[in-house]
Amino acid sequence: IKKHKVTVIGSGNWGTTVAKLVAENCAEHPDTFEKDVQMWVYEENVTLPKDSKHFDASIGEQPQKLTHILNTYHENVKYLPGIPLPHNLVANPSLVDAVKDSSILIFNLPHEFIGNICRQIKDHIAPYARGISCIKGVSVTDDKIELICNYVSDALNIYCGALSGANIASEIANEQWCETTIAYNTPLVDRRDENGRPVGNGESNDHTKQLTPLPLDYPPLDHDEWSLLFSRPYFTVSMVSDIVGVSLAGALKNIVAIACGYVEGHGWNMTAKTAVMRRGMQEIIRFANEFFPGQIEPRTFWEESAGWGDMIVSCTSARNWRCSKLAVERNLPIEEVEKTELNGQKLQGISTTREVSSFLRAKGAEERYPVFMAVERIIDQEIKVEEIPKLFK
Ligand code: NAD
Ligand code: 13P
Repeated sequence: IKKHKVTVIGSGNWGTTVAKLVAENCAEHPDTFEKDVQMWVYEENVTLPKDSKHFDASIGEQPQKLTHILNTYHENVKYLPGIPLPHNLVANPSLVDAVKDSSILIFNLPHEFIGNICRQIKDHIAPYARGISCIKGVSVTDDKIELICNYVSDALNIYCGALSGANIASEIANEQWCETTIAYNTPLVDRRDENGRPVGNGESNDHTKQLTPLPLDYPPLDHDEWSLLFSRPYFTVSMVSDIVGVSLAGALKNIVAIACGYVEGHGWNMTAKTAVMRRGMQEIIRFANEFFPGQIEPRTFWEESAGWGDMIVSCTSARNWRCSKLAVERNLPIEEVEKTELNGQKLQGISTTREVSSFLRAKGAEERYPVFMAVERIIDQEIKVEEIPKLFK
């Protein structure tokens, strides 16, 4: 019997955190997973300062490859500093080599890079690979919108689910407890009976039309196995089937988080922020019903970490909220704050706001989404935060 080989594509703040917890589980469950986990790293040079505990006088302050630092010191000094990483997590600068023969691909990088990644790996992945996207964003072209996990499914002709929740990477990396939601609709071609025999008739129930079945000599990949791969004592996983609700909640709350940061930066407090969150959630659900009719389960928004949970944490302590708050306080464009404050980390909310606003314009639906549309105008410094209430009538 084979074991699942796992590759994490992306090594930012959340990419490295998820790679850490997955690697811990692969070491603990050797019957199901190969011990070593590959993590693809967008290679860059990093200089270790003199006060770094990894500073090596013989190298001095010469720049070193991030993958070398990761594999030598087992720490992502740039994107997740101070967190010891498991030694079975292997940093790899070659995307094609990192995905080779992997049956599990975890996509975890800013959404703007996913197209380029899929183009590079398309002809190099196992045809039966299965994916989970931890990416919060959407793919928009003109008047078309696609979930990132469905974009990956289409581009690679594999099945891909979605992980999203109230998850601040640095807290989880420090093993502070939280919850997440994973949406995965086990494809018919992968379903097995209690004796491990396939139950499907070769058809596919999912986004991709002709899916290569997961070979029978691999352990199945159903809710139990995904839960085994991602659950930690400090990371509670809830498995659901609502791909659309989980993906849209995670992507669109970033727009609302920017709005909340602006409101707080302006000097308004919890009551104003609560109004923005409530109206923001209303727009997220409206958006899901309008553009993905019949495809969401309302309970996702109310009961799952990916719903209200993520909304609350994102609007009170995450990066999009923090940077938009600082932008108002310092009277700077949010992009400027992103550059100076985040040391290479990326905000997803700015591009998502622009993508969603342009999609709504293409659909002639702007009027039904005043929160989403107002955030774009504040980012572009066309209107001021104090004008928000009159836009929300
Ligand atoms: P990050 O913002 O910390 O880091 C940016 C990453 O992009 C780095 O790994 C960098 O090397 C990489 N990069 C830069 N240029 C690139 C290029 N041209 N091609 C490919 N990669 C490039 O990233 P993150 O926090 O890991 O975010 C990944 C996803 O996870 C995002 O969609 C984000 O919304 C989501 N998320 C983040 C958190 C969090 O707390 N950080 C929590 C939940 C979800
Ligand atoms: P930020 O990207 O704004 O930090 O959001 C992280 C997140 O998704 C919290 O659940």
